[in-house]
Amino acid sequence: MMRNKQALIPYLLLVAALAGGLIWHESETVPGLGRSVVTGRADVGGPFQLIDHTGKPVSDADFRGRYMLIYFGYSFCPDVCPTTLAVMAQALEKLGPEAGRVTPVFITIDPERDTPKVLADYMKAFGPNFVGLTGSAAAIKDAEKKYRVYAVKKPLGKGAYGMDHSSVLYLMGPNGKLISFYDEAISPDALAKELRQKI
Ligand code: NI
Repeated sequence: MMRNKQALIPYLLLVAALAGGLIWHESETVPGLGRSVVTGRADVGGPFQLIDHTGKPVSDADFRGRYMLIYFGYSFCPDVCPTTLAVMAQALEKLGPEAGRVTPVFITIDPERDTPKVLADYMKAFGPNFVGLTGSAAAIKDAEKKYRVYAVKKPLGKGAYGMDHSSVLYLMGPNGKLISFYDEAISPDALAKELRQKI
């Protein structure tokens, strides 16, 4: 994503949507814990049918019983995506053995270029536990919608393109429900602390 003020808007919309959802779901809010914004059963997440970086079809149900730390992005992203994935990797390393209960998941918003093969190579840079997910354009759009992800193609000329996208880390519980979410600016230490408290 591009680092600019506009990029903040989708994040703030997500926060607003979650806050609204929380009122309806009567869940608790936890102020002031690092970059954590909310906890509870907000309407974020849900079923997906995608393909992992080994080419195997996977659904959200395959992750039941495990925590998922999910990030949506694309492997051609020049800056924010690799930085955020590195933060995930560092936080999980700091967490120690507990990290074994968390699966870091990268869902592409650019299925056109992010084939399983491309994702397999990309995931290697971040760790053996990282799962890369891609799928049909429709399946990816559906997942984006369920996670309130903002992602649009940005032509760069001569057929090249980048993606403008929201940049949010989602912590999902073993039951598949959202526990909390964090913005990309969270530090590895703060994220490790959050995970230690919440898993
Ligand atoms: Ni990006």
